[in-house]
Amino acid sequence: MTELKLYLARAENGRPRSEIASRHELFISLARSINAVLVNSNEEPPQRTEDECWNTLERDLELLHTSDLLLADLSRSDYQYIEAVFQIAQAVSREIPVVSIVGDTTFFECPCIQFSSEFICRTPEEAIRYVKAIHTHSGLAMQLDSMKQYYSAVAHCYHDAWTQQASVHDVELLEVERNKLRDKLRVFAHGEVCQLGIGTGDWSETICRTCNRMLGVEQSTAMLNEARCRLEHFQNVRFLQCDVLKDDIGDQAFDCVVVFFLLSLLPRRLQAQLLRKIRGNLRDGGTLLVADSRSMRSTPSVGLGRTRMQQRFADGRRFTLYKDHFPGQTLQTLIERAGFDITQCGTGLTWFSWVAARKC
Ligand SMILES: C[S@@+](CC[C@H](N)C(=O)[O-])C[C@H]1O[C@@H](n2cnc3c(N)ncnc32)[C@H](O)[C@@H]1O
Repeated sequence: MTELKLYLARAENGRPRSEIASRHELFISLARSINAVLVNSNEEPPQRTEDECWNTLERDLELLHTSDLLLADLSRSDYQYIEAVFQIAQAVSREIPVVSIVGDTTFFECPCIQFSSEFICRTPEEAIRYVKAIHTHSGLAMQLDSMKQYYSAVAHCYHDAWTQQASVHDVELLEVERNKLRDKLRVFAHGEVCQLGIGTGDWSETICRTCNRMLGVEQSTAMLNEARCRLEHFQNVRFLQCDVLKDDIGDQAFDCVVVFFLLSLLPRRLQAQLLRKIRGNLRDGGTLLVADSRSMRSTPSVGLGRTRMQQRFADGRRFTLYKDHFPGQTLQTLIERAGFDITQCGTGLTWFSWVAARKC
């Protein structure tokens, strides 16, 4: 059974027919190798009347809108790419993930491509490897499962794991940065608060001191156990063990929902889905406070998008995690698109961005 419908944005006018055909063949066979299909075939269009052009455009858009993912092949600098950029814009407006292939061009420097693309790579082969790992049903299930297992395995030493990663920077700086986020919690986490993906409950301690009541939501039993211990002296905290992607987080309308370092672990489409779900759990005018990892690259580069990370334990266990490091304004834009007005946002000196937004 075909799993994924891929749309190939063809930026290829003006190239020899044979070259276009063989490039397209390559995409078709790569798609097949992951049990996916290219929904737009590449018959060379005959000379068309203006009406026929419009009909083709409408048919193409219909195909694109029912696709799971747009592959944008921008890898030939002399290709005519306007149509592809138009299709990218269409895909973004429908929350269809875009994977851009830029070859040796400098398209990756273009802010529009950076924002629109979930992943930017050099070759079709890289694009397909990415699609397989992130977007096929089996890839997605493995990804989420491995993430879940990792957080359960690391729960008892989560803080140390963090601090060790930080040794590249400076533990003091890490604490300065964390205090900045605690300040944001003090400013925004008031009233009835829900925190998603609480982990060991580190941030929740600050929230409990600031809010009336807090609901801490977490999928991992081991993480929840750590959080329960840490927060046992607070009377105003409740816990809910569930998968925030699948399960209800209650019918309550919260004053504030806090999501720290969770969105980046999810593929873009699930990020958008979760943000919309959160919106449904906020009272009108309620606040969403998000903090997450940002791209620390000072210059744009290929490889933008979800990064594959291998987490190893001394006893030999290994877990593969995929994580976004949101570049530029990406986090803000995702939040706005889910129906929020950004009220404040900023970045830490090093690794994170934060956004406070109001349900509109
Ligand atoms: C990177 S940790 C961050 C923990 C905490 N927010 C912090 O910043 O220290 C992500 C947490 O989200 C939890 N998580 C991931 N996916 C989840 C899901 N679908 N439902 C509930 N919790 C989830 C993980 O188990 C993990 O504890």
